[in-house]
Amino acid sequence: MPSPREDDPSFEPLLEYVENSLHFQTSSYNDAYLDRRISARMRRRRVDEYDEYHELLQEDEDEQQELLDALSVNVTSFFRNPEVWEALRDVLRELSKKGSRRDPIKIWSAACSDGREAYSLGMLAHDDSQIDERRIEITGTDIKREILRAARAAEYRASETNDVAEQLDPIGNWERYVERDDDVFRVADAVTDMVEFKRHDLIRQDPPGTFDLVVCRNLFIYINAESKRAVFETLGSALKEDGYLTIGMTETIPPSCRGQFEPVEKRLRIYRARDDQER
Ligand SMILES: C[S@@+](CC[C@H](N)C(=O)[O-])C[C@H]1O[C@@H](n2cnc3c(N)ncnc32)[C@H](O)[C@@H]1O
Repeated sequence: MPSPREDDPSFEPLLEYVENSLHFQTSSYNDAYLDRRISARMRRRRVDEYDEYHELLQEDEDEQQELLDALSVNVTSFFRNPEVWEALRDVLRELSKKGSRRDPIKIWSAACSDGREAYSLGMLAHDDSQIDERRIEITGTDIKREILRAARAAEYRASETNDVAEQLDPIGNWERYVERDDDVFRVADAVTDMVEFKRHDLIRQDPPGTFDLVVCRNLFIYINAESKRAVFETLGSALKEDGYLTIGMTETIPPSCRGQFEPVEKRLRIYRARDDQER
């Protein structure tokens, strides 16, 4: 079986085809990630060479769809990395202490996938007496329209790879916020009403507003250095004064963007906007 061969001269034309004809922006992602996903499809189709796979792709519409599905990674869960959510509880308590009871607390779940991250924020707010859930407004955004449809539907099915009840464990008494019907879990209206979903491209668009907390986790692992800098610029400009940012636990801020954010909980990747004079 082929090993990663990003320097193979047939790799680039294949990526160009995927970008220009299938409209998946390969140029924003890192080559190692693209190679892993493409090579997995090649193994499934028992093809060894990129140029051979390129030809197959041009002729086979089903394979085009399979590849597009393989390239978009939507893996997510409720309360992913529970220790981060305990720290976010403190952040939300802190934000609840600020401002008047009428001031909204605005939160952006950026690259939210099927909405479980945004709904986890809503449940956390309901679950804690020191957080005023009536003030909280959550915006969930993702580049993929289909995944946003799933997010709005707010129904999640347990499967062999996906134990929804276990994911909800960190909140305790989760039955207050999620109705269970056999293996289907539906998030209650009290939580879904707090969240609005919109399509948004983090690499190419300005932020959809300004926020007290921005949660943007597990996207940076797939994108290349240039896109990463573009996204951090966008996230930085989306934060209100003293606003908080959380990124994925294995992700890092590029050195050229670090001046904008000061660590609050470095290990858990929680930061705060530095005010302009400090930058
Ligand atoms: C692995 S999921 C992360 C979901 C969630 N934030 C979490 O940590 O569980 C990555 C998401 O990023 C989305 N995505 C990829 N490129 C994007 C872009 N340029 N703008 C916005 N979302 C993007 C994908 O559609 C996918 O839903």
